[in-house]
Amino acid sequence: MSEVAVVPDVARAAAELFVESTAGAVAARGTAAVALTGGSTAAPLYAELLKSWTVPWEKLQIFFTDERAVPETSELSNYRIAREALLEKVKPAAVHRLRGEASDLQQEADRAAADLRNTLGSPPRLDLMLLGLGPDGHILSLFAGVPESADRGDGELVRPTAAPTQVEPKVARLTLTPFLVVTARTVVLQVCGAKKAAVLARVLKGPEDLVACPAQWLRKASGRVVIVADSAAASGL
Ligand code: 6PG
Repeated sequence: MSEVAVVPDVARAAAELFVESTAGAVAARGTAAVALTGGSTAAPLYAELLKSWTVPWEKLQIFFTDERAVPETSELSNYRIAREALLEKVKPAAVHRLRGEASDLQQEADRAAADLRNTLGSPPRLDLMLLGLGPDGHILSLFAGVPESADRGDGELVRPTAAPTQVEPKVARLTLTPFLVVTARTVVLQVCGAKKAAVLARVLKGPEDLVACPAQWLRKASGRVVIVADSAAASGL
């Protein structure tokens, strides 16, 4: 089921969903498994979460939707942005980063998949997946129009992807797979700005093509999907 919330403050609305989703997971299961995203929506949400929200930090298991193939100290590292903003609030053992610096990204994807299974059970199910929307219609690091963005249908959880040609930064990545989008209990997609209006309309209303527009995987989700957009991003809906 997908909902579109058109709001004046996207980070604030996403923070409210973060709090609701993690509180519900903790009440139901004693813990909440969250995948943090990269991209432009990450830092504003982290800053908002540090305001007066009640977040069950000590009950969180933190994963990442995707990571660039760079060291954790790099300006481009999604983990670095999260660590500097808020990960000191989370138990170190509960932070499951994707090691972008690994020399063998397939081996790292396999390690991270095993970690997901060991932590969350098999098959693993995230309580909350945070996502941003790329200009080409990508989510995670499943870029538009490349065969490697297709679902293999074998329950694969994490995969390496080649450097995108249309999207910055043009570095190889590690990414979670559509399986974890489809099975997450809640997915929150944050979308800001007029430049995302046409692609958001395509995600929600365009002809279905999961390779040409991987964000359409949201249509297949079994959990709750909330698209939190500002009025400029929602102007094509
Ligand atoms: C990343 C991402 C990616 C991002 C989108 C949207 O590491 O780049 O996790 O999926 O969310 O590319 O990014 P923008 O919000 O910067 O357009």
